[in-house]
Amino acid sequence: MLSDAEKAAVQSLWSKASGNVNAIGAEALERLFESFPQTKTYFSHFDLSHGSHDLQVHGGKVLGAIGEATKHLDNLESALSKLSDLHAYNLRVDPGNFNLLSHAIQVTFASHFCTEFDATAQAAWDKFLSYISAVLTSKYR
Ligand code: HEM
Repeated sequence: MLSDAEKAAVQSLWSKASGNVNAIGAEALERLFESFPQTKTYFSHFDLSHGSHDLQVHGGKVLGAIGEATKHLDNLESALSKLSDLHAYNLRVDPGNFNLLSHAIQVTFASHFCTEFDATAQAAWDKFLSYISAVLTSKYR
């Protein structure tokens, strides 16, 4: 689990990002799809062009779920239970893709919050996103 200092670092950066979830989420998805084009296969029904409405809306949902998780840092499993079912049973997203999205989110944070997203904040977010990914992939077997 996250230490108190890591929790504080996660929540502090989130307070900067939370007002802009659609744009930040869309950029993270764009970075994901540009760097790892195989991830686009799950989104063949989306308009993936730069800044599209689909990217904004879905980016907002993904970041919104992460924001919600920042309020349940001691209880991620139950907080993310429904999303875990969705990704494992309905969407069947290959677990390897979660690391790729976590990476894209961190790069997006670094480009928007260069001062706040220092090495300590990044390490805390990396751990937090790993926990989220572990929960979202926990029901595969
Ligand atoms: C849907 C969050 C990782 C593919 C969703 C939704 C959320 C979400 C909130 C919408 C659920 C709803 O409408 O009820 C997350 C989070 C992730 C993550 C927090 C990890 C941090 C991934 C990855 C992929 C993926 C790695 C594939 C590369 C999808 C797809 C949908 C979806 C295909 C359905 C889109 C649609 O048709 O509307 N995700 N997701 N997700 N996610 Fe994820």
